[in-house]
Amino acid sequence: MSNSEDYKNHQEEPEIDELTNDRYLGGHEYDGIRELDNKLPRWWVYLFYVTIIFAVVYMLGYHVTKWWPLQDEEYKNEMAVQDEIKKANPDPVFDIEAMVPMTAAADLAAGQDTYKKICSVCHGQKGEGLVGPNFTDEYWIHGDSTNNTISIKNLYQVVIDGVIEKGMIPYKDQLSPVQIQQVLSYILTLQGTNPPNPKAPQGPKYEKIS
Ligand code: HEC
Repeated sequence: MSNSEDYKNHQEEPEIDELTNDRYLGGHEYDGIRELDNKLPRWWVYLFYVTIIFAVVYMLGYHVTKWWPLQDEEYKNEMAVQDEIKKANPDPVFDIEAMVPMTAAADLAAGQDTYKKICSVCHGQKGEGLVGPNFTDEYWIHGDSTNNTISIKNLYQVVIDGVIEKGMIPYKDQLSPVQIQQVLSYILTLQGTNPPNPKAPQGPKYEKIS
């Protein structure tokens, strides 16, 4: 059968395919294979319409009317809001001279958390001392000898700067001033707790805590 005869035959075939009940598309034929007009599933078509509507709304909303801010603008807006918040609540200025141990349960709990995570490896789980000194006795290396006081101010400086040659790490880049105040406040509650295996006292004895 020649190609043209073949085509002719197809011309005489019914326009509806018996098997699928789909219509034949005119003029779409290749090597005797004809294309059926397959109906797209309804859900697909509706989804397609939805994407078109979405695109129109998106373009109008974001690019034409500017109802909603674009990403850059949104970023700027949020930064402006943050600036306002910062202005209204300036960072606390840390006056070390005025620093006293905190007593609120939440601060002590936060201090304990920091202690367990970072400090306990050297100062012992219960503050009994290990590589670092014992925090549960009344003896301190870095107390305030003129006032016979163990003061959070002096200890604060130790934690900030560390005592590298003795193995105490500086924490100024790792802990915020509040976190240091919290952990030191917690440490100062340990005095007199008598944990097992205490490390021998180091430094002079101090009677007062401030
Ligand atoms: C790698 C071990 C190590 C870690 C971790 C460590 N310390 Fe120390 N710490 C020491 C040593 C050693 C000393 C003794 C320094 C000295 O001899 O002057 C010390 C001393 C101190 C002192 C002064 C004690 C005194 O008797 O005057 C304080 C306060 C202190 N550490 C707090 C902390 C806090 C808070 C942390 C956790 C944020 C911490 N340390 C983590 C090793 C450590």
